[in-house]
Amino acid sequence: MDKIVIKGGQALHGEVQVSGAKNAALPILASALLADGTSTYRNVPDLADVGTMLKVLRTMGCDAERDTETQDLCRVGVNGHITPEAPYDLVKTMRASVVVLGPLVARFGRARVSMPGGCAIGARPIDQHLKGLKALGAEIHLTEGYVEATARQLKGGTVNFDVITVTGTENVMMAAVLAKGRTVMENCAREPEVEELAKVLNKMGARIEGAGTSVITIEGVDGLKPVEHAILPDRIEAGTLLVAAAISGGNVLVKRVVPEHLDAVVEKLRETGCTITAEAGGLRCQAPQRLEAVNITTTEYPGFPTDMQAQLMALMSVSQGTSVISENIFENRFMHVPELDRLGADISIQGHTAVVKGVKGLSGAPVMATDLRASASLILAGLRAEGRTDVSRVYHLDRGYERLERKLRGLGADIRREKA
Ligand code: EPU
Repeated sequence: MDKIVIKGGQALHGEVQVSGAKNAALPILASALLADGTSTYRNVPDLADVGTMLKVLRTMGCDAERDTETQDLCRVGVNGHITPEAPYDLVKTMRASVVVLGPLVARFGRARVSMPGGCAIGARPIDQHLKGLKALGAEIHLTEGYVEATARQLKGGTVNFDVITVTGTENVMMAAVLAKGRTVMENCAREPEVEELAKVLNKMGARIEGAGTSVITIEGVDGLKPVEHAILPDRIEAGTLLVAAAISGGNVLVKRVVPEHLDAVVEKLRETGCTITAEAGGLRCQAPQRLEAVNITTTEYPGFPTDMQAQLMALMSVSQGTSVISENIFENRFMHVPELDRLGADISIQGHTAVVKGVKGLSGAPVMATDLRASASLILAGLRAEGRTDVSRVYHLDRGYERLERKLRGLGADIRREKA
């Protein structure tokens, strides 16, 4: 098992390029199931989670591979018999595997997908995914830990989500594109990744309007064709790199970003005193002399993303004043707090709120990553901490950041990967 070793104290400088978005790539790879033939995707980040999705697709009988020469290219071919099933062994390692449910039932009339269960950050039910599929006429049975969905032909319907859900919106959207008639989805997630998926589906021949707003309307079509598409840049990786510049006292140009996807994060960083400027194809973050504490409340897009909460908390731990951070999306997403406290932070948790009293400095220590964004937060804190920080369980990091330590090293950080 690898660990990341950081010697803190280097201000980061230079330019760095963001990889493709994990949370767009995962449902988009699954959407290949909707058409016969081979779809080709570029700018697909080389991540453990992407590897898991390719494996899920291969298990069903797809030809799903990363191109060995052009590293950012993946192909998914649906050319023969498909077994519409996602087994427990894979779904338990990545709950986002559940996004195969919608395409499978729409295309093959049957899907058997393991129930994802909870994870470190919360219970994460999928009741809204199932509610949406039922509204389109799917029959749903839960047996032996699996969701079994069947439908000879899905029919358009109205779906009003009780909870705003990203993958739920994506799953139902992928089912509705092949349903007969019109589907209206209300209270949808508005994340850029949902919009990106709709863009890909429309290129395949679907008729989706309104993705990126809370109401999505879909006219079902009889069939779709394969697609070629380049995945949009990862806004959470971009945000993490901006915070790396800020926490290290540096000045970094983060390239290949869609600036408007980062509005909420940039607004908060500006409030802390960072100077953020748009430059050709990127955003530059220049750290201030003194970071000011700011309050953060996570909400659905376009609000402040839960996936940036842990990283901003690391920044707040060394800011001037007290910051109140409220987590409203997941009930258990403060697992990084005790680890940040081990590095000398002063953070206490009260229910869904963390109170961060800024300290003058952090000091390096061995810490343990508990989930993906927690691991990023600990690395950011390690960049600032005096002395050596060892972050173990970095398999969490590898699920969602493409070679983060190399990118940070390119900016001057003293960071390396070691076999633990
Ligand atoms: N929820 C329900 N019922 C459902 C679905 C969701 O109650 O049927 C609840 C969840 O328990 C949670 C809230 O709704 O409290 C929002 O969950 P959502 O379904 O939106 O999350 P997700 O689709 O499972 C995606 C990202 C997450 C990101 C969240 C929120 C992917 C593959 N994952 O998860 O990404 O945190 O949206 O923005 O898109 C990450 O990248 O680190 C990550 C966890």
